[in-house]
Amino acid sequence: MKILYTQHEIKEYAVEQKKAGKLIGLVPTMGALHEGHLTLMRKAREAADIVIASVFVNPVQFGPNEDFDAYPRQFEEDCAKLEAAGVDAVFHPEPKDMYPDGFCTYVNVEGDFTKKLCGGQRPGHFRGVATVVTKLINLARADKAFFGQKDAQQVCVIRRFVEDLAIPVEINMVPIVREDSGLARSSRNMYLSATEKEAALVLSRSLRTAEKAFNDGISDVSELKRIIVNTIKEEPMAVIDYAEIYSFPGLEEISKIEGEAIMAIAVKIGKTRLIDNIILNL
Ligand code: PAJ
Repeated sequence: MKILYTQHEIKEYAVEQKKAGKLIGLVPTMGALHEGHLTLMRKAREAADIVIASVFVNPVQFGPNEDFDAYPRQFEEDCAKLEAAGVDAVFHPEPKDMYPDGFCTYVNVEGDFTKKLCGGQRPGHFRGVATVVTKLINLARADKAFFGQKDAQQVCVIRRFVEDLAIPVEINMVPIVREDSGLARSSRNMYLSATEKEAALVLSRSLRTAEKAFNDGISDVSELKRIIVNTIKEEPMAVIDYAEIYSFPGLEEISKIEGEAIMAIAVKIGKTRLIDNIILNL
């Protein structure tokens, strides 16, 4: 597996692959890799000739009081996992290389849907994501890029700017990978103590309880939200940031589930903010 540290190196690599007629699949990550990320790598492996992963904790998508400094960094372990998953090259730049002096261009998706859920709670977050993902797609000359449903709103944002700016790349969304307990896999699960991890099970439990109610015939959004909120409140360590149900992928307000809809939650367990969602389809 090739390790590419600079924009110059990844550009050269990607151009060479394109010249050889290869189809390039890109999987952007911030590292601290787990089964969720590795599932994206395997999907990319199936769908492309060359798989490029990126491991870059992107400073531009973190707010001033967020966990940029504390975010887990374990590049050597990540490389071993990427190599085992059949990745051809990993791009691991320094922030200075991605954002050199003079950098001043950002991709800002302005739709109302970006101001909901995580966009409402983390101002500037999606501007940072859209900017870095645009740059990564361009650098990797990606034909296809792979993202997880775990960050469903992120996928909505990426699909939007890819269409609006006519970026020639296919965006693929991969379902959420969970632990056997139901907990959605996340690099931030590392922050949880054993008791907090137990408490964190309330996220998937609340969504599954609402999903069951939906499957039993309840399609009223207020009713389903109440089920989610009441289940989360049973866990004393959990503090709700948001618990919402919107149409998917438009993220519009709805009162009844009639087509595709997303139940999305963000919950703090101690100091750690976790997100989860389930997509319902009538
Ligand atoms: P990161 O949180 O490292 O996630 C990288 C990719 O892995 C994202 O597309 C995310 O949705 C996916 N992922 C994480 N946990 C998952 C799980 N349990 N199941 C399925 N997919 C999962 O998301 C980012 O990084 C950044 O915002 C990034 C897109 C790299 C831009 O900096």
